[in-house]
Amino acid sequence: MGATSGMGREVAKILAEKGWMLGIAARREKKLKELQSLFPQQIEYQVIDIEKEDAPQLLRSLIYKIGGMDLYFHGSGVGWHNKELEPSTELKTCSTNVLGFTRMVDAAWHYFREKGDGHIAVISSIAGVKGLGPAPSYSATKSFDNTYIQALAQLSRSTILENGKRLKIRFTDIRPGFVDTPLLDTSKHHYPMLMKPEKVARKIVRAIERKKRTAIIDFRYRILVFLWRMIPGFLWERVKLG
Ligand SMILES: NC(=O)c1ccc[n+]([C@@H]2O[C@H](COP(=O)([O-])OP(=O)(O)OC[C@H]3O[C@@H](n4cnc5c(N)ncnc54)[C@H](OP(=O)(O)O)[C@@H]3O)[C@@H](O)[C@H]2O)c1
Repeated sequence: MGATSGMGREVAKILAEKGWMLGIAARREKKLKELQSLFPQQIEYQVIDIEKEDAPQLLRSLIYKIGGMDLYFHGSGVGWHNKELEPSTELKTCSTNVLGFTRMVDAAWHYFREKGDGHIAVISSIAGVKGLGPAPSYSATKSFDNTYIQALAQLSRSTILENGKRLKIRFTDIRPGFVDTPLLDTSKHHYPMLMKPEKVARKIVRAIERKKRTAIIDFRYRILVFLWRMIPGFLWERVKLG
């Protein structure tokens, strides 16, 4: 999901190169077609808008087209700087990153619940670790995504199937730092430690293959997150971010 651009597109390309059968989706059909034409034997596509109520049914039909699903990868998301707290920007971010995210992750969970096992991998962000003044809804929605995946991981472990076996759904929460994709407006803002999407996608695929529960990309951001976590709330609220 989110294979038309940025990290989602790069991850899809790597998985296809590795021989996976893929069902790719997002809103822009032209981009989906372009990617499909690179691997016509391995890729099926479906236009899906995760903000729409028919998205879970469309995901089901895509799963049917490719003959089943072992991994659901969620790379769809939006985000903006919004120091002006422009309401429609804040709400749009919530709609995609919270409502759309929940809708699709739940759809994948229900599919794997019926199947008995599976793997759900999502791109959230390091932005979910703390509230970020320049991007309030972005950081808050990413925090939601982190917590939601944790909740589902706990729920899955405690779910006993009709055949008496435990439900085995793996979860991978991928939390990159800044990545040079269309999501960032590099003409207006400076982003330190900016990473190339191709390189980040390779690390994402490695984390998925190793079935890591959480993957902060890369090591510099692991250090940054460690330091951020040590800062108490009253001090954090006095930090000035650009
Ligand atoms: N870039 C960064 O620095 C960074 C850092 C950490 C985390 N992330 C997160 O990584 C994820 C991917 O972002 P990216 O940087 O690769 O950005 P991107 O290049 O802008 O890609 C975003 C993807 O999300 C899809 N999308 C957006 N709204 C959608 C909707 N309503 N329905 C279906 N698909 C939708 C887009 O496809 P369509 O427009 O075709 O629908 C596109 O494929 C996002 O969740 C982002 O928050 C990004």
